[in-house]
Amino acid sequence: MDKINLDTIDLSQNPPAEEPGRQYYFMAKCRKYTETFEKKNGHRPAFFIQTFGCQMNARDSEKIRGILTVIGFEEAVSEETADFILYNTCTVRENANLKVYGRLGKLKHRKEQGQELMVALCGCMMQEPEVVEKLKTSYRFIDIIFGTHNIFKLAELLDSCLAQKELSKHEMIIDIWKDTDLIVEDLPDSRKYPFKSGVNIMFGCNNFCSYCIVPYVRGRERSRQPEDIIREIRRQVKDGVKEVMLLGQNVNSYGKNLEQPITFAGLLRQVEKIEGLERIRFMTSHPKDLSDELIEVMANSKKICRHLHLPVQSGSSRLLKIMNRHYTKEQYLQLVEKLRNAMPDIALTSDIIVGFPGETEEDFEETLDLVRRVGYSSAFTFIYSKRTGTPAAAMKEQVPEDVVKERFDRLLNAVQEQASAFAKKAEGTIREVLVEEVNSHDPSLVTGRLGNNMLVHFPGCAAEVGKLVTVKLEECKGFYYYGHELTGV
Ligand code: SAH
Ligand code: SF4
Ligand code: F3S
Repeated sequence: MDKINLDTIDLSQNPPAEEPGRQYYFMAKCRKYTETFEKKNGHRPAFFIQTFGCQMNARDSEKIRGILTVIGFEEAVSEETADFILYNTCTVRENANLKVYGRLGKLKHRKEQGQELMVALCGCMMQEPEVVEKLKTSYRFIDIIFGTHNIFKLAELLDSCLAQKELSKHEMIIDIWKDTDLIVEDLPDSRKYPFKSGVNIMFGCNNFCSYCIVPYVRGRERSRQPEDIIREIRRQVKDGVKEVMLLGQNVNSYGKNLEQPITFAGLLRQVEKIEGLERIRFMTSHPKDLSDELIEVMANSKKICRHLHLPVQSGSSRLLKIMNRHYTKEQYLQLVEKLRNAMPDIALTSDIIVGFPGETEEDFEETLDLVRRVGYSSAFTFIYSKRTGTPAAAMKEQVPEDVVKERFDRLLNAVQEQASAFAKKAEGTIREVLVEEVNSHDPSLVTGRLGNNMLVHFPGCAAEVGKLVTVKLEECKGFYYYGHELTGV
C-alpha cells in the first residue's frame, strides 16, 4: 500500500474501524492541532523521544517518529526545547527502570515549575502493572501511557489527549494490551539513518528463559508474512537503504506459526534476491534453533554479513538447564565449530550473564573457559538482575554482590582479551566498509562498519556517508581500526 494522503480523509465522517486506515484518520485529525499550534507560535510543535533498551525499541521509536512527523511535529534538538516528550522504556534489568524514574523526576520538577509539556511513556516497562500503578500515584502529570502491543495507536491516543486539553482537563490516558495477534502493516516510519534500517520480522518471544522478563512484556511469538517483509525492504531500498537488520527475539523460530510455514533461512533466501540491497544482518539467534539450513544459506550468501550474535548466557551446562536455554556447553561449542568450518572468518558475539542464582565458582569457570574457546569478537556482559514474575526471581540462592562484581571483572577481561585477539587477525587486510558517519572527534575522518560489525576510522568526507567503500585496515586499536580508503580496487 502506498502512503495515504491525509488531505483526502474526510474528518466529518466517523473513523474507519479497519487498520491502518483508522490511524491515518487520527493522524489527519491531530494535524489540525499542529497547524493551529504553528499559527499561534510561529513554529511547529517539537517532540523528543528517548529510547531505552534493545533494537526492537529502537525500531518502535522509528515508527513513533514516523507517525509524529506525518502529524506535523518536528523533532526537537533537545529534551529541554520539546513540547512533547516520549520515553520508550525497557525493563530487562532493574537499572533500565531506574534510569526512567530518574528522568521522570526531572520532568516532574519542570512540570511543577509550570512548563507546558505533553509527556507519553511507552515500551516494555509499561507492560508491568506495578509500574503503571506507581506512575498513576507518583507521576500524575504524565499524559499518555501505552504498551508494546499498540504503538501503532499513537495518533488515536494523542487525539484523545488533545481533546481533553481543549477542555482544560487532565486525565492520564492509559491503554495497555496484555497480548495481541494483531500486526498492523503500512504505517509510516522515520529512520535514524537513511542508508540502513531495522525491519521487524517477528514480535514477542515464547522461550521463557528463566531469568528473562521479555516474554511477559512482549507477548507470544508472531511472525509477519514474508511478502509484507519483502515489500517493506523493497520500499526502503528504493529510499536508499543498503543494509537491513532483520529483527526478532529469536529469528531462528521465524515463520513457524504462519499459515504457510516458512523457515528463517527460507526468508533470507528471498531477502537476498532484493536488487539494490547490499547487506543483510539479523538478530537475535537462539542457539537451540540455529539450523544447518541457515548455516548453509549464510555461507553461500554474498549479502549476509559474516557476523552472528549468538548469546550463550552461561558456559555451565548445569546453569543453562536451570536457565531453560535447551542446549549444553558442548552443544554450543559444536555449533560454533560448525559455523567456523562453514565460514572461517565469521565474527561471533554474545550476551553473558554473571551471578545467576546458585552460580558457583565452577559454573563461572566454565563460562570463562567457553569464552576463551569461542574467541568472541565482542560480548555484552550483564550482572544478573532479579525480575519480578520470572522463575529465577523465586530461586533462593542469590549470589553475594561482591562475588558477582569480582566475577564480572574477570569475565570482562577474558572477553576483551579474546576480542582484541580477534581484531588483530584482520590487521593489514582489505575490507568492504559501509560509511556511517563523519567522526565526531576528528571531522577529517569518517567511521564505517565492516561486515563483521567492527568499526574503522579513515580519512574521508561527509559525501561518503551511506556508501560502500574498500578500505585497508592499517592499524588495529583493540576494538576498532584506523585505515585508508583504496580506490579502484
Ligand atoms: N532475545 C535475545 C535477547 C533479549 S534480552 C536473546 O535471547 O538473546 C538481551 C539480553 O539481556 C539477554 O541475552 C540476556 O543476556 C540479558 N538479560 C535478560 N534478562 C536478564 C536479567 N534478568 N538479568 C541480566 N541480564 C538479562
Ligand atoms: Fe529473553 Fe530468552 Fe526470549 Fe531472549 S530468548 S527474549 S533471553 S526469554
Ligand atoms: Fe528491553 Fe523490551 Fe528490548 S525489555 S531489551 S526493550 S524487548
